[in-house]
Amino acid sequence: MIQKSSIFNCSVLDLPKIHNRAGNITALNGMLDFPFELKRVYYLYDIPGGESRGGHAHRNLQQVIVAVSGSFDVSIDDGINRKTVSLNRPNYGLHVIPGIWRELSNFSSGAICLVLASLVYDEKDYIRDYKEFIDFKI
Ligand code: TYD
Repeated sequence: MIQKSSIFNCSVLDLPKIHNRAGNITALNGMLDFPFELKRVYYLYDIPGGESRGGHAHRNLQQVIVAVSGSFDVSIDDGINRKTVSLNRPNYGLHVIPGIWRELSNFSSGAICLVLASLVYDEKDYIRDYKEFIDFKI
């Protein structure tokens, strides 16, 4: 049985892409193109070589993580299973559901990580200690 907050319920979304010879546009029209109602957008940039980010889980927050420029790896862990997803195109987004430990690493030079989030920022929603995460999952 797959537990509800399993990595197997985190998928790479194929975001819409409007292509023309002068370049591409990806536009997200609310729930039409997206798995949840958007409450917050933020982006990580100027990430020094060799740095990693994340290293936490969320109790309720869902996110879609997009490499809008460059590339990086996202490792996701549900306390039982773990896998790494490489993101390198602006029209792919990794949907990370609540209760998943994530780490972002291997940022290419100039990479920009766009995060589309279901909730506004709330430190109480974070689990920053891996042991606490495992206890939360039980
Ligand atoms: P954090 O989510 O821990 O970063 P990452 O997982 O990418 O390593 O956030 C780093 C700091 O930024 C932390 O002090 C909280 C702050 N922050 C906000 O104030 N608002 C936000 O929307 C986010 C994502 C972070």
